[in-house]
Amino acid sequence: MSILVLGGAGYIGSHMVDRLVETGRDVVVVDNLVTGHLAAVNSAAKFYQGDLRDADFLNQVFDQESIEAVVHFAAFSIVPESMAKPLKYFDNNTGGMITLLEAMQAHDVKKIVFSSTAATYGTPKQIPIKETDPQEPINPYGASKLMMEHIMHWADVAYGIKFVALRYFNVAGAKPDGSIGEDHGPETHLVPIILQVAQGKRDELKIFGDDYNTPDGTNVRDYVHVLDLADAHILALKYLAAGHDSNAFNLGSSTGFSNQQMLTAAREVTGKPIPATLAPRRPGDPDSLVAASDKAREVLGWQPHYDDVNEIIKTAWTWTQKHPNGYDDRH
Ligand code: UFG
Repeated sequence: MSILVLGGAGYIGSHMVDRLVETGRDVVVVDNLVTGHLAAVNSAAKFYQGDLRDADFLNQVFDQESIEAVVHFAAFSIVPESMAKPLKYFDNNTGGMITLLEAMQAHDVKKIVFSSTAATYGTPKQIPIKETDPQEPINPYGASKLMMEHIMHWADVAYGIKFVALRYFNVAGAKPDGSIGEDHGPETHLVPIILQVAQGKRDELKIFGDDYNTPDGTNVRDYVHVLDLADAHILALKYLAAGHDSNAFNLGSSTGFSNQQMLTAAREVTGKPIPATLAPRRPGDPDSLVAASDKAREVLGWQPHYDDVNEIIKTAWTWTQKHPNGYDDRH
């Protein structure tokens, strides 16, 4: 029996595929390569190129393969883009989930681990954010993912499809050997953009706003290493395999770092000056997002290894230096 990884050519998906292969699992990857890279997919995994909104294609994959569980990363995830193009997000993310659950139901596949997000909480009422806190997204990306959580809930009630929703905070870093890493085109995320400035590929970092309700006025985020995240997915698969009920977990480090602190840390790690200027606020950004992640530790037994943001940046820097132009295939 194989694990089907949807979006396995993307940043987080490719690290998950790599970890699954390392732990001896058979892995099937589906990716439309709109934002993913074929070169990121571990060659021991079986690869299908296609879109999960294409029901015929998806059903063929389920027909051909013996799938035990699905891990679903295949979604658009850029907050500012979602503000400008909300329908793109509801179509691909929310619509894709419906096609996927229909195919799972038709093939009697009853387990799914799903990439949800801190963006489902919107502006938090308290920090750190608990899983039971209100989910009131302030951008279409978060709204599209919250709808996906609701759809999975009702698919569980009706069909017994069990899910684990993993609500990621800010994912960063790369496999420490620098063989796979983060490569988006165009890049919008803070850590890779800072490192592009360190590389000399960008002139400066633009810090989006310094008048937020945070200690230094810049947004505060909770950074989690991509391999710690992959480990949490493996534990979530075990949790479902053990017959447990559907559940949702935050994945973060429980420590917040401001954009200014991230810049300072990156200057330390890289030894580069990394020029930065102040720019206007970016639409859709909450002041602070910091996770309470004790539930994942207690229930799943998750033990993140990277609790130091400098170490996280260091692994991303190794990837950047080894692959100055990212994946060469540019898919
Ligand atoms: N930022 C800058 N300058 C840049 C890029 C980003 O100041 O050039 C700032 C942003 O305004 C924000 C912070 O850096 O304050 C982090 O921004 P990212 O774009 O790296 O990440 P987001 O917090 O917007 O979103 C990420 C994921 C989402 C996820 C969210 C949850 O992309 O999918 O974390 O915390 F939902």
